[in-house]
Amino acid sequence: MPSALQARRGPILADGVALADLIDFDKREIAMRVLSDPEIYRLELKRVFARSWVALGHAAEIPNPGDYVKRQIGLDQVIVVRGRDGEVNVLLNACAHRGMEICWADEGNQSSFKCPYHGWVFDTAGNLMGAPFEREMYGDWDKSQYGLRKLRVGMHRGRIFANFDQHAPPLDEWLGDAVFYLDLPYAEGDPEVEICLSPRRFRVANNWKLPADNNSGDTYHGITLHRSLFELGMVPGGDVTTLDTLKVTAGGHGLVGFNRTRTGAPPKEGLSKYHTDNFTFSCVLFPASFGIGGSAATRMPGPDGRSYLVIDIGGIIPSTPDVCDMWVGRLVEKSAPEPLKAMLQNAMLLDLGGADDIAAWPSIQRVAKGAVGETQPIRYGATAGETKPADWAGPGKVYTGPGFDDTQWNWWMRWFELMTADEASEAPNPRSVARAAG
Ligand code: FES
Ligand SMILES: [Fe+2]
Repeated sequence: MPSALQARRGPILADGVALADLIDFDKREIAMRVLSDPEIYRLELKRVFARSWVALGHAAEIPNPGDYVKRQIGLDQVIVVRGRDGEVNVLLNACAHRGMEICWADEGNQSSFKCPYHGWVFDTAGNLMGAPFEREMYGDWDKSQYGLRKLRVGMHRGRIFANFDQHAPPLDEWLGDAVFYLDLPYAEGDPEVEICLSPRRFRVANNWKLPADNNSGDTYHGITLHRSLFELGMVPGGDVTTLDTLKVTAGGHGLVGFNRTRTGAPPKEGLSKYHTDNFTFSCVLFPASFGIGGSAATRMPGPDGRSYLVIDIGGIIPSTPDVCDMWVGRLVEKSAPEPLKAMLQNAMLLDLGGADDIAAWPSIQRVAKGAVGETQPIRYGATAGETKPADWAGPGKVYTGPGFDDTQWNWWMRWFELMTADEASEAPNPRSVARAAG
């Protein structure tokens, strides 16, 4: 870890403890207080979620002008809507008048959004179109000053990302080396996709960082918590006696694959075939996109012997310090055979393994809430360092072996970096959301 990061103290909490005091960088231990402290939670909403590129869905969910889905970044609701010009807009779901939510459905099609309180009307680009008695109330006003708050929008292979922070790096830079791995299943092209499973939402009684940490690389728990899945043969190629995992850190993003056939590194040729056979990964794009245990994108073999693109979308919403909502949906290549589509509609690893995970995480949360429990460390000391094979074709930090803690620790270090960014810069922080909004 860069020593500059280790030297940071970060925000000082109400009882005088600095955020850095909760972390032992040498032992790689973190006090459980970070999972339960409401003050840390509020800081996360501002410093992590309101400054990150968050994945909100897929363009194929909203193919026509006026199509929209309502999603969340932190606690802020946003409307992801296709405008009349075909562009995807992401708008804060807050009326520019007195702040009421203007969109109440989870999805739909509308040419405009009318606020239920006083009736201001906004178009799909967030512009104010009009208001009741506007002449009498406001005279000859400049309506362009009263639009909805618009977020920056970034697209990657149809995935829609948005960011509140006008000063954040562009999406490509934010994704960095993760792009190589996200693109692996597209080696044979970028086919048209359709919704296979509409997004569903699960509420779980634990802090959002537990599933984020877990899905960024905790393969270690598979052989115990999910042992029944292995014993039932439901983890293709999974072997309960030999943990054989392959993980990548790219920035704070953690990508996980089962190295099913132990063929080692992906060859420089035929990456897509390698992906099908070996590298069905789940991943967490920092901070908490797709952290559900599904794959971000993969190829699945059909009955005709061909493989077809499957895309999972989702994320973790930090609902309170002690509760998160996980959402997940799935898209599939339009031309995939019906039996494959039917199978994909019925089977998500989350449905099976999720029941195990949501026994573990709320249990950890109960411990984290205790006066003594909050001082208990969570430990990430099992590390092997990078074990990137010489012929590895991909970028990032690559780890192989029995499920070491590196990718998860790297996720936590990225969290620490964002959480301490304000104190780290002596000048007023140019990335402040309040400033960006001004
Ligand atoms: S709060 Fe929306 S019109 Fe008044
Ligand atoms: Fe799990």
